[in-house]
Amino acid sequence: MNTESFQQKLFKELNNKEFFQHAHNHVQTYLDSAKERVVYPLISAIENLDVFDEHMPIDSNDGKDIIELLSTVGSQGTINTLNGRYFGFVTGASLPVGMATKHLTTYWDQNSALHAMSPIASRLETIVETWLKDIFHLPKTTVAGFVSGTSMANFCGLAAARYRLLERQGWDINKQGLSNAPTIRIVTSKQAHSTVIKTISLLGLGINQIEWVDVDNQGRIRPDLLPSLDNSTIVILQAGNVNSGAFDPFKLICEKARKVNAWVHIDGAFGLWAAATKKFKYLTDGMNMAHSFAVDAHKTLNTPYDSGIILCNDQEALAASLHMDAGYIIKSSARDGMYFTPEMSRRARIFELWATLKYLGKTGINDLINLFHDRALQFSNAFNEIEGFEVINEVHFNQVLVTCNDDDLTSRVLSIIQEERTCWVGESLWNNKRVIRVSICAWTTTKKDVELSILSFKKALRLSLKE
Ligand SMILES: Cc1ncc(COP(=O)(O)O)c(C=O)c1O
Repeated sequence: MNTESFQQKLFKELNNKEFFQHAHNHVQTYLDSAKERVVYPLISAIENLDVFDEHMPIDSNDGKDIIELLSTVGSQGTINTLNGRYFGFVTGASLPVGMATKHLTTYWDQNSALHAMSPIASRLETIVETWLKDIFHLPKTTVAGFVSGTSMANFCGLAAARYRLLERQGWDINKQGLSNAPTIRIVTSKQAHSTVIKTISLLGLGINQIEWVDVDNQGRIRPDLLPSLDNSTIVILQAGNVNSGAFDPFKLICEKARKVNAWVHIDGAFGLWAAATKKFKYLTDGMNMAHSFAVDAHKTLNTPYDSGIILCNDQEALAASLHMDAGYIIKSSARDGMYFTPEMSRRARIFELWATLKYLGKTGINDLINLFHDRALQFSNAFNEIEGFEVINEVHFNQVLVTCNDDDLTSRVLSIIQEERTCWVGESLWNNKRVIRVSICAWTTTKKDVELSILSFKKALRLSLKE
């Protein structure tokens, strides 16, 4: 095909209302069937994904057929987070306003690297940065970077820490690298999230260098066991343990760290939002004395994927550690987002985050988190009434850990629940015990959903005991 006709074909597609309407009709069908569709794909649906296995096509395919294939076969292979009974990992369900915003702004196709590349993305990033400082009660000097998730936000926070601690010792990490660099000490709990550990290795700080601190029975770091800190130490704490939901005691540790100029980073993937509520703020007491914070919007705030945030009160350290420059970069006096993130080109995920925050307001964030907590309590109260189940965590936030009498029974119960597909829950290890994790993180979970899920747990226990 010559270039003219190739382009003509594409322009025709762009102006083909029917083509976009066709895709939109599929969107509507997916949304309309959310409550009825299974929470986890059927085995047959996963097998049907084989139709995607083909060699790279030589010739072009029809756009409408592609959308049809994705919608009819691909959609059957999705996890149904809108169903209200998906309790795996820590998974949100997009609020309608976030989905609609993503839909609208998909067609804008904005790159949020520079103000020059998207004035609207730059403006909204600036505004959301101010809002986040307000709701999390952080110092005015705090800056925000909008990244893909908490893994990346942890990376940014710890990169800033590494930069600053070395710079104070007269060492420029960007120019001199890590060989022969002064030592950086890492102090964190035995319950630090795996993405924190990955970041430590990515940054060349060395997992073997970590000074591990023991935890209490909820997974909170024990401040009494903290080694002495100094100005070459990064202390990594967490707001919301991925299993138990527990929060580290920030105040005590941040005060100690402040005295000696140690850097404190908080991994608050889902828990940091507690700071933005009336009821759960107490869990994050003292956190504003920390230096950097990683948090997801795609978890507790229920924005669409992917949306993570790094908050750092040392702008210079964050920008210096993620910095790049080139002759063709057009700097603006307004915000250029790429100075606060590792990437240059980046999708403008700020649109959904801004829309979700504007939609919810402070009251809505409260309501959303109260909803998760209420449903978590409903689960744990129900488990406490059923002989054979034991809740083994304190339900302070949105996580419930439940076990049966022994590991084998817990695993059998879990498989039956997963096979039945009324709800979906995952498994974990807690104090060497197999546990079922129930994470309530989706606005779609109703009281009825919890009741139906509990029935599934009961049935699975009954069947397992008969086996
Ligand atoms: C405490 C904690 N930290 C980090 C992460 C990683 O977040 P993400 O998957 O958004 O990178 C998670 C994910 O569940 C988490 O719970």
